[in-house]
Amino acid sequence: MYRTHTNGQLRLSDVGKTVQLVGWVSRKRNLGALVFIDLRDRYGITQIICDEKMENITKEIRNEYVIQVEGVVVERSSKNPHMPTGEIEIEAKTIRIINAAKQPPMIIADETDALEDFRLQYRYLDLRRPHMQQNIILRAKIVKAIHEFLDNEDFIEIETPYLGKSTPEGARDFLVPSRVHPGEFYALPQSPQLFKQMLMVSGFERYYQVARCFRDEDLRADRQIEFTQIDVETSFLSTDEILDIGERMMAYVMKKVKNIDIELPLRRMTWHEAMERYGIDKPDTRFGLELANLNAVVQDVDFAVFKNALSQGGHVKGINVKGQADHYSRKAIDKLQDLAKTYKAKGLAWMKVKNSKAEGPIVKFFTEEQLSRLCEAMQAEDQDLLLFVADTHYEVVCDALAALRNHLGKELHLYDPNTFDFLWIVDFPMFEYDEETARYYAKHHPFTLPKPGHEDLIASDPAHCLAEAYDIVLNGYELGGGSQRIYDQDMQAKVFNALGFTDESIQAQFGFFVEALKYGTPPHGGFALGLDRIAMILAQEKSLRDVIAFPKNASARCPVSMAPSAVAPEQLEELEIEVSKHE
Ligand code: AMO
Ligand code: AMP
Repeated sequence: MYRTHTNGQLRLSDVGKTVQLVGWVSRKRNLGALVFIDLRDRYGITQIICDEKMENITKEIRNEYVIQVEGVVVERSSKNPHMPTGEIEIEAKTIRIINAAKQPPMIIADETDALEDFRLQYRYLDLRRPHMQQNIILRAKIVKAIHEFLDNEDFIEIETPYLGKSTPEGARDFLVPSRVHPGEFYALPQSPQLFKQMLMVSGFERYYQVARCFRDEDLRADRQIEFTQIDVETSFLSTDEILDIGERMMAYVMKKVKNIDIELPLRRMTWHEAMERYGIDKPDTRFGLELANLNAVVQDVDFAVFKNALSQGGHVKGINVKGQADHYSRKAIDKLQDLAKTYKAKGLAWMKVKNSKAEGPIVKFFTEEQLSRLCEAMQAEDQDLLLFVADTHYEVVCDALAALRNHLGKELHLYDPNTFDFLWIVDFPMFEYDEETARYYAKHHPFTLPKPGHEDLIASDPAHCLAEAYDIVLNGYELGGGSQRIYDQDMQAKVFNALGFTDESIQAQFGFFVEALKYGTPPHGGFALGLDRIAMILAQEKSLRDVIAFPKNASARCPVSMAPSAVAPEQLEELEIEVSKHE
């Protein structure tokens, strides 16, 4: 037997007991003849006190050694109220070194000054830090709660292939060469989308899976090339019923994992309203700072930047940064402009209201009346800072101001980081036009139903056709999304048509799937939530990397194993693959 108790377990009521503990040496301090050891395991830290009789062994012990201690629980004279075990310590009788450890290259404590690259390279040590252990444990609790909830709701967990065929989420595929069929490739799934729909054809009605997904896209703080979805699909349910399942699942997770009550039903906002008010389809609704649409208000203002945009069918929007006129110098505003420019804005116009007067370089272009109309539209008062972006492209205006809004929300502490504000975004556009390729793309995926009443717009006015699709958003992150799916052949043909698919390309890409839909497909729909993102937000971390045991770094490498790597020539030969060297 290695232990009688864990290092997080012993309290004053245990004083007098003889116990055995195991763990890693977190810290060793010498105090005269006495040696104090902080012994750490997954459950906590317990202080061990060793007298001079143990000198032989304590001299040998270094940080991160694995040791076993037998001793007696005693009350501490100087108690540590910050530790659950801080009222007791163990008077060691015997200590056994189970295993030695090399000097660790980083400090293993909640506070570490190690750079992230270094932490990721020695991830197995980084994961010893109690803070990281809590994150990984929190993630496991989330998954457990989801299994419980969906099991209670009669969902069946079904696995779908990882070695499959390209799926329609629209990112680049990861390909796996086939040895048995040289020259042919599997694609790792971007999601289980097609398989879960076929499971509805099979009649399972309520499917779910904790599914790994693979997308070859550039990594960001909230994006990994492999990530985990809580993937759900249902038959014979209305959109309201599907959203009800999704939101009750999240409320269950919040209660189980964070003991926070989420008020249901969650509010719903149309995509259009979200874009108008926040400039983004995943708004952080913990704070105001909403966008004002100023097209009508500034239409006759003689400022070239606004005029040019409006005359070309463009847009002018602004935000009112309340009470911050003195907080932002010209230099500080230039910084905000630099941020706006990274989102393709051509500039950032501004104004301050001071002593009931508008100030700033663009004020001269406004008449008194125009200024008062502007201030009214933006509810501007003394000490407010007004920021404006004009552009011929609606998306540029929205993107730039949404980025500024998020930046200012953080910088000015406009929200309580302990609130969790969920909402649904509904009524997404069905299609997205891409100017470069001059064609429409499915905004969600090509199997999404149009919103009832919008069927005719698929052909006649795709730009205004809305989809029966929805996203769940939390604190400015898209947690998940889904839709009702097309189950009618003619409708599917119409959508493929609008997307410019030829019969051949349909056949080549998802012929098998279209065929499956011909055998009595029930009405069905579902959603997928990003588990990594849920864990990141609940752990209040800024990067997915902090809630994934072995994540990829920003350049898509596994810093522990250094994958990807070259392979042996024989392996390539077997696959009949030749690599042309790029210098
Ligand atoms: P979608 O592509 O919106 O939908 O993905 C669903 C959710 O998965 C998470 N996610 C990611 N998380 C980390 N890194 C990534 N690279 C990444 N990409 C996506 C997000 C996102 O909201 N099959 C559809 C769902 C459906 O219609 O049922 C799908 O995959 O949290
Ligand atoms: P300019 O006329 O280019 O000297 O710009 C005058 C002011 O308008 C400067 O503060 C610019 O940053 C700002 N500005 C320029 N282009 C835009 C734009 N598209 N939207 C908002 N402000 C702009």
